[in-house]
Amino acid sequence: MMRKQIDNWEQWKTRCRRVLEANLPDRDVLGRLNYRYTCPAKEKGHYLPQWLWDSCFHALTYRWFEPDMAWDELQSLFVHQVFEGDDKGMVPHMAHFAENHDEVDQLLFRHPNRSMLTQPPLIAIAALAVYEKAPARTILTSMYPKLKLYHDWFDRRRDPDGDHLVTIIHPWESGWDAAQRWDEMMGVTETTSTQLAALGDKRKKLVELIFEHHCDANALARVNGSFFVEPADLNAIRAADLEALARIAQEIGQSDQEQNELKLRAEAVRQAIRKKMIRIDNGRLYAHDLIGPDEKETSPDSAAKFILMFGKCVNEDEAQLLRNELEEEVSRFNTKYPIPTTPADNASFDGGEYWRGNVWLAINWLVYRGLQNYGFASEAQRLAQKSLELVDHSGFCEFYNPITGDRGKRLGKLCPQNQSWSTIVLDMLGRERDSD
Ligand code: GLC
Repeated sequence: MMRKQIDNWEQWKTRCRRVLEANLPDRDVLGRLNYRYTCPAKEKGHYLPQWLWDSCFHALTYRWFEPDMAWDELQSLFVHQVFEGDDKGMVPHMAHFAENHDEVDQLLFRHPNRSMLTQPPLIAIAALAVYEKAPARTILTSMYPKLKLYHDWFDRRRDPDGDHLVTIIHPWESGWDAAQRWDEMMGVTETTSTQLAALGDKRKKLVELIFEHHCDANALARVNGSFFVEPADLNAIRAADLEALARIAQEIGQSDQEQNELKLRAEAVRQAIRKKMIRIDNGRLYAHDLIGPDEKETSPDSAAKFILMFGKCVNEDEAQLLRNELEEEVSRFNTKYPIPTTPADNASFDGGEYWRGNVWLAINWLVYRGLQNYGFASEAQRLAQKSLELVDHSGFCEFYNPITGDRGKRLGKLCPQNQSWSTIVLDMLGRERDSD
């Protein structure tokens, strides 16, 4: 099935390299940085700073042709890690405002160089994957304490109820900015363009509220109008990242005790997910985000549940249910171009509109790796193939319509066509090629 694409490996490499190269910061910005990174997309001028999980995906692509750049991209994420105060250890979801003369974000986030929010933690996972191709032990060793600090921060600041599931305090931290999963919390009652436009403003207002409460999740839990969610997918990703960190600890010669402690922390997250977030109904598995301090299980169905396989958070039977749903003949998730983040039968599904039911290739990658975790090799391969077809159809768009394969829109405006993280298809192709 993948023969043709595998035979085109060199062309795919060139295409992905071109997209990433075109998204390097301008020369004067590069000159002011400690390490290079890649902008998510330069073509509309909005995505110039560095974004946390985007850079992890960029590194996973770069490792196939420019591992030095992959290492730079990851090291750059720690330049603005918080090194003092209550939030010591946090890695910001956006950084390098000053170098980009980004006054809008400096004002919004009240800091010259970084936001006070984070994003799904994938850095250890990406570092380990880069290390497989370019074993730079010194770099890995220097990243290790920073990664530990980051995960310690999550436990210290973002798990007020101590159940091993961390909380996000803003939709931006999920990476799924405008998804239906957050509608109830964000006061969206119907998907009209007015409400969606207002949603953008609400996200900005929420930043002010978070500052008022000193970014303290525990305090925000009790504040009217705040955002307080334990998301299923972010926690699953975190379990995988802790596991990757344990492997890094082993690689750089940390004690067995240290390695085991990290493995236990990963396992504690998994067990909490199993205990609190999974429901099976009529042969279908649902994963719930826990909303608010009372942990309401009200989130609508979404592709986040497939990411539980990425974190190895389901048993074999449950994984089979997830796999079946992805492969169903006519399915809410098995659209012509899979996988829509919101299933096609959700009343407010909109395949064209930002996070309201689109395909995001970074999400496809997480599901692809999850399927592989459970031995679903041919299903993973099919998803890789479909993802490559989507790029052939429309280019490396930020996101796509799952029915037509066309470029997505945000409030009527087309999304960028050369978004860096969509080059993650190269990592799927490279892995398929290696196992061919
Ligand atoms: C959007 C996405 C987010 C991503 C960012 C940069 O805000 O929702 O997940 O990290 O763009 O690409």
